Amino acid sequence: MNKKLWGGRFSKKTNALVEDFTKSIHYDYKIGQCDILGSIIHVQILEKAKYLNHEEAIKLINGLKSIHEKMKSVKFSMNCPAEDIHSWIQNELQKKLGNIAKKLHTARSRNDQVVFSTKVYALTELKKITIEVDNFLYALEVLADRNKDLIIPGYTHLQHAQPVYLKDYLNAYARMLKRDKNRLNFIFNNLELTLGSGALAGTPIDARNYNLKAIALQVEATSNSLDSVSDRDFVIEILSALSIQGMHLSRLAEDFIIWSTQEFGFIELDDSFCTGSSLMPQKKNPDILELIRGYAGRLYGNLVSVLTMMKGLSLTYNRDMQLDKEPLFNSLEIASSELKVLAGMLRGVKFNKERIEERLADESLYATDLVYYLVDKGVAFEDAHAIVGKLVRYSLDNKMLIKTMPDSLLRSFSQKLVKGQVVKLFSPLASVKAKKSIKR
Ligand code: ARG
Repeated sequence: MNKKLWGGRFSKKTNALVEDFTKSIHYDYKIGQCDILGSIIHVQILEKAKYLNHEEAIKLINGLKSIHEKMKSVKFSMNCPAEDIHSWIQNELQKKLGNIAKKLHTARSRNDQVVFSTKVYALTELKKITIEVDNFLYALEVLADRNKDLIIPGYTHLQHAQPVYLKDYLNAYARMLKRDKNRLNFIFNNLELTLGSGALAGTPIDARNYNLKAIALQVEATSNSLDSVSDRDFVIEILSALSIQGMHLSRLAEDFIIWSTQEFGFIELDDSFCTGSSLMPQKKNPDILELIRGYAGRLYGNLVSVLTMMKGLSLTYNRDMQLDKEPLFNSLEIASSELKVLAGMLRGVKFNKERIEERLADESLYATDLVYYLVDKGVAFEDAHAIVGKLVRYSLDNKMLIKTMPDSLLRSFSQKLVKGQVVKLFSPLASVKAKKSIKR
């Protein structure tokens, strides 16, 4: 028999449809271990407030610890009769300890419990994700290091722009992910774990008198219980930081997808990180990268779902708020699996240097260097830009490389264009070396 935490007032059994519709145990079991931690702290408060004697407190704490163990092997699902994980734990405790378990809920509410446990869960997961970000950054750094002299065409509008070092390109992604990590760390460091709100108005035990910090590191007594039970900013902040991170990873995924096409042929992905086609035997597809691109949509969806769920909710707790957990869990899982699979994939990426070199032969990549050359010789930037524009047009129309143009032809565009100097500009290395803005 599964007892409700609120049955007394009701004369009728809850309709089975309502039972199913309101249930959250099939997903909130994930915060069960964190809920037990909160309950153990709560027992200590109750003992200090003399609602429990020492012997009772020890019994309750040991009971909670054994449920903590038991939970590890329980398969929670919709079929589990408890409404949520908090009710399940309370029921288990009662089965185990009998009447004394009924004292545990003195001066507390699930409204307080659920915020506490979700926050503890979030803290643990955030820590794991920052470690995974570090692993990802390391894999990126190794790849950059293995190809430290490699220069590739850089693009704007996905059109040839200027040559860049691959290591700088990859480092641009590293910088994005470091910002993501900073955002996650900021949330981690500023997340306030509170207890003592009760349902909304606080409780007759003023938790502030019991120095929660001494009982459990980091836990504060709530300073405004109304805010504490109705605050889900931390969920929204996490979903937002993970959305930004997912957006960054989707851009990296897209770059690697493009580079792996036959048309580009810049990289070869390791077979073990690609998938095939059931119909076309020749196919080797970058499915994981496509999924990473696709998951950005899920991450944004989860953020918008919780933002919208919270919009316009009157204070304080409303049942709508139960719907924060699936998006939160889902985004944390996506972020973690994306980082892991990408780090693995990066380890096996091979760059096709010949192919890249062929592409670097495109003279248009050095047009800007020609402009700088003229500017250095005293030509005003706009004039230099126009001269080189005409030169490029002439080269395209006449299918003649600028490098091969005779000196006299070059000089017809500008007297300052000296063949012997101009030819040296069509060098990827000279081009990247001439740029001073990237700190390495
Ligand atoms: N499972 C609920 C949740 O996640 C617990 C809170 C229920 N509180 C209430 N007042 N009905 O939000």
